[in-house]
Amino acid sequence: MTDPAIAANGLRKSYGDKVVLDGIDLVVPQGTIFSLLGPNGAGKTTVVNILSTLVSPDPASGAIRVGGHDLGADPQAVRAGIGVTGQFSAVDGLITGEENMLLMADLHHLPKTEGRRVAAELLERFDLTAAAGKPASTYSGGMKRRLDIAMTLVGNPRIIFLDEPTTGLDPRSRHTMWQIIRELVTSGVTVFLTTQYLEEADQLADRIAVLNNGRIAAQGSAEELKRLIPGGHVRLRFTDPDAYRSAAAALREAARDDEALALQLPSDGSQRALRTIVDRLDTAGIEADELTVHTPDLDDVFFALTGDTTVPSQADPTKETVR
Ligand SMILES: Nc1ncnc2c1ncn2[C@@H]1O[C@H](COP(=O)(O)OP(=O)(O)O)[C@@H](O)[C@H]1O
Ligand SMILES: [Mg+2]
Repeated sequence: MTDPAIAANGLRKSYGDKVVLDGIDLVVPQGTIFSLLGPNGAGKTTVVNILSTLVSPDPASGAIRVGGHDLGADPQAVRAGIGVTGQFSAVDGLITGEENMLLMADLHHLPKTEGRRVAAELLERFDLTAAAGKPASTYSGGMKRRLDIAMTLVGNPRIIFLDEPTTGLDPRSRHTMWQIIRELVTSGVTVFLTTQYLEEADQLADRIAVLNNGRIAAQGSAEELKRLIPGGHVRLRFTDPDAYRSAAAALREAARDDEALALQLPSDGSQRALRTIVDRLDTAGIEADELTVHTPDLDDVFFALTGDTTVPSQADPTKETVR
C-alpha cells in the first residue's frame, strides 16, 4: 500500500469565535486530482494554507500527513515536497517572466546553470518563451496564471496546490489551464485543486469534496455525487397563459412555476418518457413553446447539499432545448 499524498483527520480552524473548518477529513491518493469545491468564503484557501504549512491548524485537529510527512512534526519536509499556486498571483509584474522564474530557481537554491535550464524548459512548456523577456505586468490573465504555475514547478514538487487556478479567466484560457492540470497528473504529480466551478471539478477531478459551513457536505467521484440526487426533470414552457393553465390541468403531477408559465415533471429524459408527456399534451390539444430535458448534474448536487443558488456556474451542456 502506498501512502496517500494527503491525509487529514478532523482538520479544524477557528479565527476568534468564528469556526471556519469544523472537523474535515480528506484523503488524496497519489497521482490523482482532488477538487475542493465550495462557494466564496467556504474555507477553501484556509484548507490549502493549512495543508501547505502557511497557517497552523487548531490544536484540536487530528493527524495531518502531506507527502508522507507529519505536518506538525516535520513542516520542513512537507514544504520540500509541495508547490503552491495561490489564489492571488505570486508573479512580480515589475520584472520579466524569465526573471520571475530565475528568482524561484534561486529560492530553491538551484545552481545558476541548472536554474537557467529549468526556467527555459518551463517557459517553453507553458508557451511563454516569446514573452519571457517582457515585464510580467504586460501579460494577459491566462499568461500570468501559466507563469504562476511554471514558477510553482521549479522545485519539481510531487504535490501541487492550485487555489482557484481559473477564476477570472476567459473560457479559452480556462481550457488551456485544464489541459495543463491534466498533463501535470500524467507525470505522476498529485493535484489539490480548489474551485467554485462545478463544471471544472466535473471535468478534472478524480474525487470531489463539497465544502459547506465548515464541513465536507459530500465526497466522491463526480458520478457518485450525481447519484446522490434523484433523477432529472422535463420543463415545459408556455407563452400563452391559457395553454399553460390547460397543461397544468392535464399534467397534474407537474410542479408549477406560475410566473414563468412553466411546468416541471420528474423524468429520466428518455425517449419513451418524453413521448408520454408529448402524447398527453397532444390529447389535451396543447402545444408547449419549449421543452427542455434536465439531467441531474453537479449543480443539482451542490444546490441540494448547500442550499445555495448564488454559486457561479458555467453554461450547462446537459440542459438541451429539444423544441
Ligand atoms: N486570517 C483570518 N482571520 C480571520 N478570518 C479569516 C482569516 N482567513 C480567513 N478568514 C475567514 O475564513 C472564512 C473562509 O475563508 P477562505 O478560506 O478564504 O474561504 P474561500 O477560499 O473558500 O473563499 C471566511 O469567512 C474568511 O473571512
Ligand atoms: Mg479562497
